[in-house]
Amino acid sequence: MGRNRLFLIIVAACFSATFSAIIDSKLNEYPKVQRRTWDQAIAMAKSTVAQLTLEEKCNMTAGIGGPCVGNVLPVSRVNFSGLCFQDSPSGVGDGVLHSTAFAAGIHIAATWDRDLFYKRGVGIGKEFQGKGVHFALGPMMNIDRNARHGRNWEGFGSDPYLSGENAFYYVQGVQDQGVVATAKHYICNEQETHRFYGASDPSNSKGYSANLDDKTIHEIYLWPFASSVAAGAGSVMCSYNQVNGTQACQNDKTLNGILKGELEFPGNVMSDWGATKTGLESALAGLDVNMPGGDGFLGFSLVQAVKDGTITEARINDMITRILAPYYLLGQDQGYPSLDLDRDVIGDNYKINRQVGAAGFVLLKNTNNALPLNVTTDNYYYIYGAAAGQSDEGFESGGSGEHGGALYQGGGSGFVEPTYGIDPLSVLVAKGRDSHLQIRYITNQNDFGAVTNSFNARGFSSAKCLVFISAFSSEGSDRSDLNALNKGDQLVQLVASHCTKTIVIVNSVSQLNIEAWIDLPNVVGVIWSGMPGAEYGKAIVDVLFGDYNPGGKLVFTLARNNSDYGTDISPTYDSNYTEGVFLDYRHFDKYNIVPRYHFGYGLSYTTFSFSQLDISKAGKGKLSASSQYRQRRMRSYTSLAASKAYEPAYEITFTLTNTGKVDGSEVPQLYLGFPAEAEEPPKVLRGFERVYLAPNESKQVSLVLTQKDISYWNVVNQKWTIASGNYTVWISTSADNADVKLQSSFHI
Ligand code: BGC
Repeated sequence: MGRNRLFLIIVAACFSATFSAIIDSKLNEYPKVQRRTWDQAIAMAKSTVAQLTLEEKCNMTAGIGGPCVGNVLPVSRVNFSGLCFQDSPSGVGDGVLHSTAFAAGIHIAATWDRDLFYKRGVGIGKEFQGKGVHFALGPMMNIDRNARHGRNWEGFGSDPYLSGENAFYYVQGVQDQGVVATAKHYICNEQETHRFYGASDPSNSKGYSANLDDKTIHEIYLWPFASSVAAGAGSVMCSYNQVNGTQACQNDKTLNGILKGELEFPGNVMSDWGATKTGLESALAGLDVNMPGGDGFLGFSLVQAVKDGTITEARINDMITRILAPYYLLGQDQGYPSLDLDRDVIGDNYKINRQVGAAGFVLLKNTNNALPLNVTTDNYYYIYGAAAGQSDEGFESGGSGEHGGALYQGGGSGFVEPTYGIDPLSVLVAKGRDSHLQIRYITNQNDFGAVTNSFNARGFSSAKCLVFISAFSSEGSDRSDLNALNKGDQLVQLVASHCTKTIVIVNSVSQLNIEAWIDLPNVVGVIWSGMPGAEYGKAIVDVLFGDYNPGGKLVFTLARNNSDYGTDISPTYDSNYTEGVFLDYRHFDKYNIVPRYHFGYGLSYTTFSFSQLDISKAGKGKLSASSQYRQRRMRSYTSLAASKAYEPAYEITFTLTNTGKVDGSEVPQLYLGFPAEAEEPPKVLRGFERVYLAPNESKQVSLVLTQKDISYWNVVNQKWTIASGNYTVWISTSADNADVKLQSSFHI
């Protein structure tokens, strides 16, 4: 055996060992607190309602001041402890102490790993439960329709199917810990601009109107909410905006009609904070609890309305039943922890957070295998950019980009002030000590002169240059552009004009325009580091040095021109969703626009091959590889009626092989082409699985198409309908047609 080959084998062996060492096997255990079915919970709620006075019931329909961001009054007479609602979708927020800032929604989505979706949910749920919080105000599943939307980082990207899978496993992970999940913001809350207009007092204002057709709302924006309901979510938060001219929290069509009617949602509708604009009309349209309360809408004012006969007591009873049912569903009446928002219950959540952080990084460019870095041969490093280190004002300001620093999450109510946050620079410096790396850094991004001068350092002529850039956004305002913060793009250009081995790390809330530098030949590596949570530094160094092989995939398209997206924030009070179902890759496909990077794209340090595609009808008991995917869908708190749509229709199997030299993962993506009758985009995502393989290892992958997956929303008969004709199945590694690995079809 030649010396080179022996060296390669040793490197590969070391790589595999470290790679698997950071996957904690204990994380495979799924402790659950699930105690009751919806039917049992509703029966218990009804029996409590029967013991309450009209005044007590009405009081519970509006929040009161208290320790949490939302509070429902206790009624000790019936042994009801009251309810605490607390942000956020990515950890316990609203400024509590001792809290883990988890990788944000946009980042977990980029892992494309259902197992991690669920485990992150479990980790988040444990902290809410341990602090005695009853409802977590998440997951957030508004679609990334507008690249500049300030809240994209809280959600799961631009695709409804991917968002739906994320929402599903989040809900089950959190609720398995006994905490009610709140699916938000229902519905079409895809921009911050004009979320309040017309009055300085938000509760007297209106929200912009999202105007869209029936097919679009069902196939794109409702999809993840439907998945949340199917997963058993106890609560849904209605949003600030109007939908087709009616406020979302008093919209009879979307609340009573679609959510409670069509989806058979048995839980409660809670208003976003200040999203209730009327009392009676909202209650009649389907709103069950008004948050944060104190505005005179709902609450005690309903007592008179019942006496006047303008609302029935039966509807009040329904509201309280819906508020209490999730509490009984998850056994919160039985020894739930007392409320202490600052209680230290972070446990070992850093492990799952680090794993999600690493798994969500997307390797976009890797010229001649510039990455991973090799501590033996690559000894010299320049590190540039404020986003490499800590913000000037510590973690509290981590929620407000202008202070620079590595971003763990974006800003607003979704931001969790972390107990700690580990920046990349600190970990690189520590690695420098362990591996004898010579490191120079400049984090003052305003001083381009110092950056220019830095390149003359003795001995550094073949140094690698790591440039950290970021893009921040927050609830309450949309981004003004899609550029990196604080001249980050110019910083990359400057570094690349001096350094032939420039590697860019993009710490961004959502889409960024990277055209200023992506094609520069000296930019030899690009890692999209997203919003990776408090373990950022550890996770990124694992990936840079190959201790973890990146396998994340983009959850939105990265366009060459901002106008290529075809959708944007509306500057008026109307946001017209005229693109219909042609959003993101569906739009790029329709108009043949070539993006910079396709939805679903991401590289690896290894290579894969695909073979043996087979499609079979999924008859009863025939499913060969049902996996956790099916089992979890069968939880007792899943609404059975709603979950019929999720029955398997077809099973698609194929073999995936790791043909490279190191452990790694690939995410085969199933894109489906519909018969013409369905009037669908050229292709839509309908399946994926992240598969981890050792070198030369093969696995049979099974993807299940459900009844709903092969249906379109039929606006005439108001049903999900299976089209007749030919369906094409593409197994691909991104939405780029050039990445299709296997193709077949079935006929219905
Ligand atoms: C946000 C919600 C949040 C609520 C409570 C609102 O401004 O839109 O997402 O849960 O505040 O903080």
